[in-house]
Amino acid sequence: MRISSPLQLLVLHGPNLNLLGLREPEIYGSLTLEEIDRQLQGDSETLGVNLTCRQSNLEGELVTWIQEARTRYQGLIINAGAYTHTSVALRDALAAVQLPAVEVHLSNLYRREPFRHHSYLAPVVLGQISGFGAESYRLGLLALVRHLDGLS
Ligand code: DQA
Repeated sequence: MRISSPLQLLVLHGPNLNLLGLREPEIYGSLTLEEIDRQLQGDSETLGVNLTCRQSNLEGELVTWIQEARTRYQGLIINAGAYTHTSVALRDALAAVQLPAVEVHLSNLYRREPFRHHSYLAPVVLGQISGFGAESYRLGLLALVRHLDGLS
């Protein structure tokens, strides 16, 4: 049981993740984003942390949210979707704020097309969880909380 005030954590979902449930369910599963967020809220209650979940299709908006997270959150979980493979701006934002972050992906990037094998974010996060469907987010949350608990 944590004695200090609850950790404030942020989950960021990138482009096209608002379409989960409809979008290529054979790759991404049948849960909607709302269902994934609800599972994560349940987990966060069990873990005794406060969780905020946000989704955007816009790279700049995600950059702004990462910048704002510096003073509001102790850590973040990010599925940057396709921006994982393209965005120096998201990588720079994560490096700038120096917040502990876990990169998650529903699908196993390394079993897919070669262009998905490179992540701009991987070098600036604590670690990456890829391939466990919606469980990737739940594992990411657990890993982040354990990491932050280890620091307290
Ligand atoms: C994804 C994998 C990315 O390659 C893809 O562009 C996505 C989703 C995943 O969660 O498996 O949008 O990040």
